[in-house]
Order: sequence, then C-alpha cells, then structure tokens
Amino acid sequence: MAPQRRGAPKAPEGSGAAERRRPSSVKSARAPREVWSKWLRAAVLGTCATLAALLLWGSLGGDEVGTEVLAHRGEVLSGRFMEVPCSEDYNSHRRFEGCSPTRCGRGVSDTVITRDEALRIRSIAEKGLALGGSGGGASILDLHSGALSAGKHFVNLYRYFGDKIENIFSEEDFQLYRDVRQKVQLAVARAFGVSASALHLTKPTFFSRINSTAARTAHDEYWHAHVDKATYGSFDYTSLLYLSDYLEDFGGGRFVFMEEGANRTVEPRAGRVSFFTSGSENLHRVEKVRWGTRYAITIAFTCNPDQGIADPAFT
Ligand SMILES: *[C@@H]1O[C@H](CO)[C@@H](O)[C@H](O)[C@H]1NC(C)=O
Ligand SMILES: *[C@@H]1O[C@H](CO)[C@@H](O)[C@H](O)[C@H]1NC(C)=O
Repeated sequence: MAPQRRGAPKAPEGSGAAERRRPSSVKSARAPREVWSKWLRAAVLGTCATLAALLLWGSLGGDEVGTEVLAHRGEVLSGRFMEVPCSEDYNSHRRFEGCSPTRCGRGVSDTVITRDEALRIRSIAEKGLALGGSGGGASILDLHSGALSAGKHFVNLYRYFGDKIENIFSEEDFQLYRDVRQKVQLAVARAFGVSASALHLTKPTFFSRINSTAARTAHDEYWHAHVDKATYGSFDYTSLLYLSDYLEDFGGGRFVFMEEGANRTVEPRAGRVSFFTSGSENLHRVEKVRWGTRYAITIAFTCNPDQGIADPAFT
C-alpha cells in the first residue's frame, strides 16, 4: 500500500491527529488544572510527533507538497500493490474474459528480477543503443521490430545489419531478454489475478535511454502526462523494468502516477519492476531527467491474441 506519510485523508493507523483535534469542551466536568496538564502533555507530544514526522519526511527526500513516494529508491519491496477503481477505457475495446482488467491498480516489486539480471540486460541495451541514438535526450531500442533511434528518426537494425546482427547480439542476450520478460509477465498476471497465458506481449515493448539533452523532436518528449491505453490501444497492462538507479545514475526521471490531490512517485532502482493497468486510472508521466542516464524497459501486455508479438529471436 501507499505509505501514508502526510495529507492522508482517512487518518491512518497510529495517527493521533484526529484525537488531538477533537474539542476539549466535552471534558469540562474535570478539574481545570487536570485538563490543563493533559492538554499540555498532548500539545508537547503532538509537537514532538510533528517534528519527528517532518524530520523523517525530510530525510526520505520528500520535498514537494502533494507528492507521496509509492516506492522509495532505498526500499527493497517484495511487492507493494495499490488498487484503484478501473476507468471505463476498457469498455470501448473488445473484452477478453479472465484477462481484461476488472481489478485495476499499480504495483512495484524488487524481487521479480535480480539486480544482476537488470545490469546484464542493461548491457544489451547499451550495446544496441551505441549503434544509434536520438539527437535529443530520449532514445529507444525495440528488439522485437529492430527499431532504433538514429538522429531525428529511426532505423531498423535487423534490416540494416541482416545476418550480421548475430555479431552484435548473442543467443544468450535474447535468452536473458525472454527469461526476464517471462518473469515480469508472471508477476503482472499474479498481481491482477489473471492467467499468465492469457497475457500477450504487445508493441511497442522497448528499451529507453534518457539523458538531460534537450528534445529535438516530439519523439524525445517523454515527460508529458499520458494514458497508455489512449496512446496504444492494444495495451491492457503496462510494466516497466528499471535498469539504473535514481540519484546514483541519474537525477530527475522519477515515474509519477498523477491523481487529483496526490502524485505518487516510483523512484527507479535497477531490477525494480513497476506495473499497472493501462487505462486512465493510471495517468502518469516521467519527470525530466536532469543529469546522468536513465535506462529502462517498457514491457506491454495485451489480452487480445491478435495484437500479440513474438519474442526476439534469430530466424
Ligand atoms: C501533480 O503533478 C502535476 C504536474 O507535475 C502538478 O501540476 C500538480 O499540481 C501535482 N499535484 C499535486 C497534488 O501536487
Ligand atoms: C545524450 O545522449 C545523446 C545520444 O542520444 C548524446 O548525443 C548526448 O551527448 C548525451 N547528452 C549528455 C548530456 O550526456
């Protein structure tokens, strides 16, 4: 669940705030002196609690009002899930019983993919992206289609290199990619109570590399708030696997779920998987990267078998 550190509307566990705010007039039958000392004690305790909360908040790096951290970079989460009501976005698409979202929400786990797997898969991204790269700050590599950012456009690596692609990527690279994709698929299926075999990988599923260089084309503008299902109709469940660490490898670049009254951030961490239903219940954006380089993979799933894509493989 979301850490309710501040501004929680429903006064969560352990919060004495509601008690403290209650008018003391009901206790007027007591001796005034006793009431006074009780009040004083409550006030002192309240002040201490507030100071402690502020210190904790400050040390955890929370700085913006209305922002809550859903997953902190220092945490190792074995699975945190926050349910949100489904939007109606899925109704305007063909529904697949037992797969199309009926339980919506978002989750984060640091135990699906190991840090080692994340770093090994990042080296695949580095290798591929070194062959091209956008002139703006955001480059992508899609191992399924072969699309690679190059200047203001994209090239197709597979068409460009032909058979020689085997000198760039190895069978082990593709095997690792498939294994990681499969683990993420199982985790997404489990979290939303659907069968993993009902989920199909869909496009675009791609590596992203983002740095602080200014955008040159619309393709580089990754920071706008958006709804995945509105952008890509096939998406039902979106997942992200982070391949670098917030504040170690880059600054900015946090993922933000945008809600009225509260923005909830996921701080990237190598090996961290975050996943969510793709409709407007999960409007989100990525903050601009301010320094360093941020690597991630977006892995998308659809319930519609006709919109499925195959894993990368040498043919
Ligand atoms: C959430 O983020 C958006 C864009 O960054 C901002 O305009 C909005 O005020 C934020 N909401 C809250 C409650 O802080
Ligand atoms: C960001 O990446 C691009 C390649 O995509 C590169 O040309 C540029 O120099 C990089 N900028 C920084 C600040 O490292």
